[in-house]
Amino acid sequence: MKLFITGGAGFIGSNFIRHILSLRKGYKIVNYDKLTYAGNLANLESVAAHPDYSFVKGSICDANAAEEAMRGADAVVHFAAESHVDRSIYEPAPAIDTNVTGTFVLLQLARKLRIERFVHISTDEVYGDMLPGAFASENSPLQPSSPYSASKASSDLLVLSYVRTYGLPAVITRSSNNYGPYQFPEKFLPLIITNIFDDKALPVYGDGKQQRDWLHVEDNCRAVLAVLERGRIGEVYNIGGLDVEENLTIARTLLRLIGKPETLLTYVKDRPGHDRRYALLCDKMEKDLGWKPEVPLETGLRQTIDWYKANAKWLAGVRDGEYLSYYEKYYQNRDSSLRSFTHRG
Ligand code: NAD
Ligand code: TYD
Repeated sequence: MKLFITGGAGFIGSNFIRHILSLRKGYKIVNYDKLTYAGNLANLESVAAHPDYSFVKGSICDANAAEEAMRGADAVVHFAAESHVDRSIYEPAPAIDTNVTGTFVLLQLARKLRIERFVHISTDEVYGDMLPGAFASENSPLQPSSPYSASKASSDLLVLSYVRTYGLPAVITRSSNNYGPYQFPEKFLPLIITNIFDDKALPVYGDGKQQRDWLHVEDNCRAVLAVLERGRIGEVYNIGGLDVEENLTIARTLLRLIGKPETLLTYVKDRPGHDRRYALLCDKMEKDLGWKPEVPLETGLRQTIDWYKANAKWLAGVRDGEYLSYYEKYYQNRDSSLRSFTHRG
């Protein structure tokens, strides 16, 4: 089966490509990725020469290039996105272009090229804030809060409209916050881990009591593979780690595991529109596809810390000029102690 994967050079996509190549024979993978600041072929060094893997550089917004690369594919797994909430708040256009228009381009191509299965990778953020103690099921209303989550909700609705109107054989996954190896350190968990390594201030937005459901990326990869192979057309599947924790608890746990003092915690100006709580019901994945998360949070956190420690070269490569200017630009108004990334706080 020829599998067209978009965004395979990013965090989850690259983990998924390694996952599928290590578990399955018979998939020929084409990884189509624009290589934005978040896309990194170093994530795929271990499979770059694999006979069943190839890479094509291109944007999902470029219909001609995407068509050429997708031609002959049986199935699509669509990871490509502008995936960072903070960036989407400061500059929404790239999220709308890639997440909405780019998905539309792919849906049109999937119809034209008679793709047999289209797996659209979405997020729990489309449900917006959950009340304390509440959990989102696949039928919960879509109430996105940020330009990022609104763009993902829009793309989900486009996908569902193509299932209904054109009979496109598509399925949607909505996962919670992933963590694990190869995550770009703009996201909370790797940012906190790598700042702890450097004895740098840890930027905690607002009171730090926002809650997220943490999912190890390997658990998500197993889930996406199950949905690709056995998911029911037209269905949405929630995928969560079932471990809902406050951000502050996560930061404190990481400090404890790495052995650094809590004085590094620094409360900074909150993110505008910040969702207070995400939490998912994932019964459908368990009942229909026999999937449930397997990596306990503390085990996963330890493994992730070890991975970042062991991969200093990779980390230095991604914390280059673009990352430094991002850090300066996005954190400078939050707290003066965070201003300089290069000098210890
Ligand atoms: P990421 O930012 O690490 O990677 C995104 C990849 O998409 C990069 O390789 C980038 O180069 C590529 N890309 C961006 N714009 C493109 C374009 N126009 N054309 C082609 N490629 C393009 O993201 P991630 O964390 O791996 O997330 C992957 C998917 O999972 C996204 O759709 C995201 O919305 C979703 N998701 C992520 C999380 C999470 O915790 N990271 C949680 C739920 C859902
Ligand atoms: P993030 O990794 O950006 O994922 P998302 O917003 O998609 O859930 O952030 C996870 C949580 O951590 C979220 O509540 C925002 C918070 N956060 C901080 O407190 N400080 C930071 O520097 C970052 C990046 C996030």
